[in-house]
Amino acid sequence: MNAPWKPGMATTRDAFHAYVCDNNSAQTVTAIAIEMGWPSEHVQMGGLRGAIQALSVSASPHILLVDLSEAADPLTDISGLAEVCEPGTIVIACGQVNDVRLYRELLSTGLQDYLLKPLNIDHLRDAITNAQAAFMAPRGDQEAAHNHVAIAVIGTRGGVGASTVATSLGWMMSETKGRTTALLDLDLHFGTHALTLDLDPGRGLIDAIENPSRIDGLFIERAMVRATDKLAILSAEAPINQSMLTDGGAFHQLLSEFRSAFECAIIDLPRDMLNQFPQLMQDIQVAIVVTDVTLAAARDTIRTLSWLRSNAPHVKTLLVAGKMHTTTPEISRKDFEQSVERAIDIVLPWDLRLSAQAAKLGKPIVEVAKNSKLGHAYATLPDQILAQVGDTDAEASVKSTTLLGKLGGIKGLLSSASKKDGKGQPSSRPTSGK
Ligand SMILES: Nc1ncnc2c1ncn2[C@@H]1O[C@H](COP(=O)(O)OP(=O)(O)OP(=O)(O)O)[C@@H](O)[C@H]1O
Ligand SMILES: [Mg+2]
Repeated sequence: MNAPWKPGMATTRDAFHAYVCDNNSAQTVTAIAIEMGWPSEHVQMGGLRGAIQALSVSASPHILLVDLSEAADPLTDISGLAEVCEPGTIVIACGQVNDVRLYRELLSTGLQDYLLKPLNIDHLRDAITNAQAAFMAPRGDQEAAHNHVAIAVIGTRGGVGASTVATSLGWMMSETKGRTTALLDLDLHFGTHALTLDLDPGRGLIDAIENPSRIDGLFIERAMVRATDKLAILSAEAPINQSMLTDGGAFHQLLSEFRSAFECAIIDLPRDMLNQFPQLMQDIQVAIVVTDVTLAAARDTIRTLSWLRSNAPHVKTLLVAGKMHTTTPEISRKDFEQSVERAIDIVLPWDLRLSAQAAKLGKPIVEVAKNSKLGHAYATLPDQILAQVGDTDAEASVKSTTLLGKLGGIKGLLSSASKKDGKGQPSSRPTSGK
């Protein structure tokens, strides 16, 4: 049940629906729908009322065209859409009222466009093309405002829990911090993110590597697999006998697309790739170096940190003990820290029970670890990362600039008893004990 990624998008959303009020409009809209490759049956009669009825029981499309001809009070009636339409949908209205004031007021509610009837096919085509562009970049002005943070998660040795940290971080950044987050699993053959989240990785990442020139906003939208409303992953399960030949250009291109499409990007970066694609680190702000507390890991932590200092001096690092045995550590934390000449920033306790539970449920470990020592330790990670990049805005503002975001505002003004009101972010932030 994978769906391509779009922030705020429901699991199955069609590209386009139209609800018109007359045959002429239906014909014109159908012609454009066919031109765009959309099913003609997505053009239906019913106008605004029909749209509200239909969308109350089905997922909203990416682009919605509603005919306001039969609406007695278009401005008030259109707020009804907010009750049923999901955020992110771009709405175009059409109607018979040729009144600039109404036009302006409608646009101020967040409508993408208002077209006068009878519909002109060229105007309609333009409006739909613009709506597509708006959908591709739905966060528009917010884009400039948001601070994108790109994080690499690197294990110093195999099996230290790096991927577990990366998946959990993806979950926390998206769920707790409310940031749209991309999770890129560069362990092309053996990556576990899709598996951990109970998703099919699809071919997106392999396609990207094979055809880097195809990587653009649209590609990202289609290729990324949605884990939650705000978390999307790109990963592969490349056949073991198939080497993935790349000069790393595809990865750079992906990270650059992530920068405009997401507020956070997390890259699970197998340590072998550091040397193979050192240029990848140019796009990264924070590296989470995950280790276990063993002699060999102390050696490799020293080498990993040293590599980062030499090759990516701009990158801030956080050192995380991925699964710390408290009972029988191979070497003590103190000895480890002394030998790597820095403190471990976060210690994640070893917890076999939670690890097994997460695997059974197909969820990131942090999601099932709430109210546990492990959960508390994890909870400090996002803030430590954001502090590294000087981003103290822990609660990302995700006000939509698209219609439904704005209509949400109208809803508030109309003081309809909305379930949206009072929506709160989980605020239980365990304090860092370290
Ligand atoms: N805190 C923890 N307590 C117990 N088990 C854990 C913990 N964190 C991770 N694990 C388990 O350790 C195993 C290895 O974890 P993971 O795959 O994240 O490591 P990795 O460093 O990414 O490994 P690889 O080198 O294969 O990429 C997994 O089975 C995972 O469920
Ligand atoms: Mg891994």
